[in-house]
Parts: sequence; C-alpha cells; structure tokens
Amino acid sequence: MELASRLANITPSLTLAIDSKAKSLLAEGVNVCSFAAGEPDFDTPEHIKEATLQALAANFTRYTPSAGIPELREAISHKFKTENNLDYSPSEIIVSNGAKQSCFNAILACVGEGDEVIIPAPYWLSYPEMVRLAGAEAVIVQTTAANNWKMTADDFANAMSPRTKMVIINSPGNPTGAVYTKEELRAIVEVAADEEILILSDEIYEHLIYDEAKHVSVASLTPEARDLTITVNGFSKAYAMTGWRLGYLGAPLKIAQAIDSLQSHSTSAPCSFAQRGALAALTSSQQCVADMREEFNIRREYMFQRLSSMPNISAVKPQGAFYILASIAKLGLSSSNFADRLLSKANVAVVPGIAFGDDKTIRLSYAVGLDIIKEGMDRLENFCKTL
Ligand SMILES: Cc1ncc(COP(=O)(O)O)c(C=O)c1O
Repeated sequence: MELASRLANITPSLTLAIDSKAKSLLAEGVNVCSFAAGEPDFDTPEHIKEATLQALAANFTRYTPSAGIPELREAISHKFKTENNLDYSPSEIIVSNGAKQSCFNAILACVGEGDEVIIPAPYWLSYPEMVRLAGAEAVIVQTTAANNWKMTADDFANAMSPRTKMVIINSPGNPTGAVYTKEELRAIVEVAADEEILILSDEIYEHLIYDEAKHVSVASLTPEARDLTITVNGFSKAYAMTGWRLGYLGAPLKIAQAIDSLQSHSTSAPCSFAQRGALAALTSSQQCVADMREEFNIRREYMFQRLSSMPNISAVKPQGAFYILASIAKLGLSSSNFADRLLSKANVAVVPGIAFGDDKTIRLSYAVGLDIIKEGMDRLENFCKTL
C-alpha cells in the first residue's frame, strides 16, 4: 500500500519525539535532566480549571460553532484591541485546537501548489512541514547569531521571487528566543506590502518576554500590514495549557471565513468546555502569567550565565520564549551526534538544532525547575570536557 505522495517528505516532530524519549527514560527510573520540553512545567492556574469544571457540571459538552463560542471570540477581540492595538471583530477570529492548528489552517487556506513561503531559520520545525503539506515550497532564509537570529528586510527581499505568497514571522521566536523590534518589523512589513505578500505572525510567546524587549504585533503597524497579516496566538504557553489544545487567529474577514469553513470540515470545532476555561484565562487577573514569566526569567538568567561560562559553547541571550539556542560549532560535531552522545553518556536531553534548520546548535528549554537546570548544566559542562 502506497501512502499519499504529500506525506513523502514529511518527518514526525523531532522535538515531540525527544521529549517523549526523555519522559519514558524518566519513567523507567533513569535520572535524566531534560531540556527538550516545549511546554511550561507549571500547572494550569486553578481559576481556569475551576471555570472548566463548572462548564462540565453545566453539561457544556456539545459541539460549539466551528469558529469557537461567541463569548470567547468576543474576549479575544477585546484582548487584541487592548493588549496588541489590533482591530479584529469577533467574526475575524477563529479559535482552533492549538496555535499549531491555527498556523496549519492559515497556511492551508492561503498557499498551495506553485507558491513559495519564506521562513527565517532557525525556525519552529512545523512551519516548513505545514507549507509542504499544503503543496507549496518552503524557502529558508538563514539568520545568524551575529544578527541575533533575526531576518532583516534585505534578507527577506533577496529571498523573494514572483512566486512568494507568504512570509512567516515568529516573535518572540522558537527556538532562538529572538524578539524583533518595531523598526525591524516595520521594514519587513514595507517589503511585504510592496509585493502584497501575506504575513503569518505567530505571536504565541508574546507574554514570555524579558529585559527591555517589547512585543509588537505585526498587524498593528500599518493598515497595509493589517490587511496582509494573520495573527496567531494561543493559551498553551502563557497560561500553561498545552494539553487543552486551544489557540486562535485573527485575520481579514475573507481569510477568516475560509478558515472557518476549512475547520468545519476537519475538527468541527474546538473542545467546548476547554473554551470556557480559556475564557476565564483571558477575562481574569493576569497575575498568573506575570508570576510564570518571573520564574522563567530567573531560570533564563541562570542557564545563560552557566552556558556562557563554558569554553566550547556560546549563545545569544534570548529576549523571549523559554529556550536558549546554543552554538556547538567549536566542538565539530553534528547536532544530532552531540545530542545523542549527551543523552547516552550524561543523561541530558536537548534538541539538536538540525530540527530547526541549523546543525551547529542545540536547543535547551528552561521550562524546567532550577534544580534540574543546575544539575543539567554541571553534567553538560563535564560532558563537553570529555570531547
Ligand atoms: C512557535 C510556536 N508556534 C506554535 C506552537 C503551538 O502551540 P499550541 O500548543 O497552541 O498548538 C508552538 C509550540 O511549541 C510554538 O513553539
């Protein structure tokens, strides 16, 4: 039996695979320090769970409208306005089963055979696969540590062709933690607007931002940007709700309607009672988000300082998300070889940069407790001495 050709070049998510390998080693009793996680280690805040329990008790368990419940779309519209200076009416908002599905929906709805999508690397590993699944071509723009892992407007313009249909911007970014400034985004938007190129702006890590960095929503920059941009966000990272599978997007009405139709034929709708939890997340105090960010920041400082003191490792200090992308170029090993040996010899799990399009780096997540980070950094340091 032959599988569909669209799956020929698709590989399973390496980050999920490494994370589950680390989790199963832990379950077997192996003392693994895992920096592979792509999710907060915190529990979902109580008031969010409470609202969901109430929804279940009230039998709020049936299909909802495919784009999500009206009160949640209303709350997202309000959040976009007040936090991001974005005008999306509720009808321009689609709630999905995670920001991952929001990205996939946006890509499926907007690009296809013969189109090119520009993706700055290192990238979140699902973007190129989604683009290929949509039948389009991923055009990778390599960024450098020297430029803080950011694509310039010139890099973008140089990668464009008459077939370019979309560019993906992910700020704060996974795996680099890079945060684009307003000026940098404005320059990219100008290039996109000149050629009417769509912008998929994945802002899922918006609340996990440190030091002086400020989050800027691409669609808020100019009216042209608003017309060309699909803004993706979600509940997983800010509210520690990865398993709830809830994300959302805001898009110009025509695109939003197409995505609604697409979603109505795939998942029907997001989970009903989980949406009530998400509503509570948006409409209650945001202190829980600030508390988690504060904790992430302490870990970021510690991990960065430890990595910076290791002679063969270097890293750009991330300004957002909960990852550090560290260069292992001086060690002369491929990222997979390094990560495999680190796991088997020192019981430390990291994600090889090859998964993100850069074979000279590894990604370490600091969404784990400080005690594990301390122990893991000791092990990593000792391991590097043996190479
Ligand atoms: C950049 C980026 N976008 C989207 C997602 C997906 O998040 P969700 O859990 O909402 O599907 C992730 C998760 O790792 C991510 O890193």
